[in-house]
Amino acid sequence: MKIISCGTEHFEELVSFVTRLNSDEAHHIGYFGVGEADVRSSFAESLIPPADGFQLAYDNEKLVGMFGVDSNPEIGRAWLFGPIIEHADWQNIADELLSAVHPIIPVELREYELYCDVNNVNVQEFAARYDFSLHAETAIFYLLRNDYKRLAKDQTKIIDYQEEYFEQFERLHNEIFPNTYLTASQIVSKLDDNHHLFLAIEDGRLLGYHFCKLEIESESGYVDFIGADKSAQRRGIGADLFASGIDWMLAAPSTQKINLTVNADNFAARNLYRKFGFTTERVMRGYRKTVG
Ligand SMILES: CC(C)(COP(=O)(O)OP(=O)(O)OC[C@H]1O[C@@H](n2cnc3c(N)ncnc32)[C@H](O)[C@@H]1OP(=O)(O)O)[C@@H](O)C(=O)NCCC(=O)NCCS
Repeated sequence: MKIISCGTEHFEELVSFVTRLNSDEAHHIGYFGVGEADVRSSFAESLIPPADGFQLAYDNEKLVGMFGVDSNPEIGRAWLFGPIIEHADWQNIADELLSAVHPIIPVELREYELYCDVNNVNVQEFAARYDFSLHAETAIFYLLRNDYKRLAKDQTKIIDYQEEYFEQFERLHNEIFPNTYLTASQIVSKLDDNHHLFLAIEDGRLLGYHFCKLEIESESGYVDFIGADKSAQRRGIGADLFASGIDWMLAAPSTQKINLTVNADNFAARNLYRKFGFTTERVMRGYRKTVG
């Protein structure tokens, strides 16, 4: 088995390999999505360039495996992309790939994450062998344009993000999603034609928010974060925020599908999504390990 760094010269082969195998639930890794456009946009968003962050395994010149890393230093977490391996000797090749990936992981990162389909038995066995613990079981939901059922009570004032609300936004984001993958500042710095942050405001007070984005290449939208302040829940604010975001994403003619991820035990959010016409695509497991 030959293990080499992806480099620019093997990148296209890596994209084809991941695109082919990630559509199979037995190989599926969460971060990549499904289809070439999703895979390309995941690589494009990596903070560590894939040419440096991904290691490939070749058996007699045939690409049989890959494993890579991306990270968010502000949060201190490394996301391990894979392993995806098409070979009978899966676990041994995974070990070799991990040895090659390990030196690439920035040393200051103290938390590693693996994220795979519930039917990806190999990655789950790999996680167990390396003492990762199950962090969360999540469901991937999707909505097709024609299945949209608009449910909004229009009781709250929903506005586009304004800087004067940053402090309230940061406080609420940290309270609802502590230690999540994007900080409030990172969300705000992403805002552009394809990233939108809606705020629910009542008498100058922020009661909830919804951050979502368009993924033009894959003709889809993605709900990143939606939350309502605890004291204001069950008043229709979540539905109003959700409707505003979905309307905005569907206003782009290219949007055919909207995706989101939710913890499997989050019944409030799952009910909300189902009411709007979303259905479950797959169930995923996230594993985490603290190092050092
Ligand atoms: C999910 C969340 C945004 C809903 O916000 P909300 O303002 O309370 O929701 P709404 O009042 O607009 O309710 C809309 C629908 O959601 C569902 N729902 C909301 N809260 C619910 C609960 N506690 N139990 C069951 N269903 C619930 C219902 O279907 C409801 O429709 P109904 O009122 O006709 O029954 C809110 O519970 C929240 O912020 N949770 C914490 C953050 C979170 O989990 N975000 C989602 C992460 S993916």
